[in-house]
Amino acid sequence: MPPMVSIMGYKEQIDIDRLPRHVAIIMDGNGRWAKGKGKLRVFGHHNGVLSVRDVVEGAGELGIQYLTLYTFSAENWNRPSFEVTAIMELLISTINKEISKLMKNNVRLNAIGDLDMLPSKCHRELKAAIEKTSVNTGLVLTLALSYSSRRELAHAAQSIAQKVEQGSLKAAEVTEELFAQHLYTHNLPDPELLIRTSGEYRISNYLLWQIAYAELYFTTKLWPDFRREDLYEAVLDYQKRERRFGKTSEQVN
Ligand code: FPP
Repeated sequence: MPPMVSIMGYKEQIDIDRLPRHVAIIMDGNGRWAKGKGKLRVFGHHNGVLSVRDVVEGAGELGIQYLTLYTFSAENWNRPSFEVTAIMELLISTINKEISKLMKNNVRLNAIGDLDMLPSKCHRELKAAIEKTSVNTGLVLTLALSYSSRRELAHAAQSIAQKVEQGSLKAAEVTEELFAQHLYTHNLPDPELLIRTSGEYRISNYLLWQIAYAELYFTTKLWPDFRREDLYEAVLDYQKRERRFGKTSEQVN
């Protein structure tokens, strides 16, 4: 008789008491995925939405509290206008199509970035969806849109400087905590795990302040091939690491 082999999926191996509270993802590789299939880049973005749907469901099911997706960077405005328009339209149609599922799955939608830069229809529908899902108490799904971390930091510095100028704040009161309160992410905990797909090993101006202590996980999978099982694999990898926050191994064990 062949030996019994227990086939445990990644999910079953995860210790749910040690989940990362906040996972951030750089969804990369849509264009290459499409090109590999002889299709236009936009085809990759359309298929990327299927990954978003599966990963959002999988994250909620696992009990992850915050998921932040790098959906459109401030630099992405420089892409060909055809592609930018297609992504914006995809965003609107996805929000409209998914809203009932977000409600059913208790997902609260949130957005960070320079949202005023979005086409007005897109901004309007996004705000309406954020408003509608604000009653939900499960996973907080944050879309980073027209997002630039350096711009976010400069913005924070500007509004703090204004308060100092007006006399409502003293320079000595500018602590790390106060600074963090002036970021777009003031109501989110810092991510403990940052995932980037597509075999690129860069941070690309994403959450530079917030990922100070995050574990970084890179996979060569292209975003349209990424599914919840891949998220679970990343979480499992995260759980195998020792997070020391500058202390020694003996101090944290
Ligand atoms: C990166 O791949 C992907 C993007 C810039 C867009 C991401 C958008 C989606 C997945 C669809 C919309 C999402 C939501 C939440 C509705 P790339 O184009 O940079 O790929 P490449 O590096 O292969 O060129």
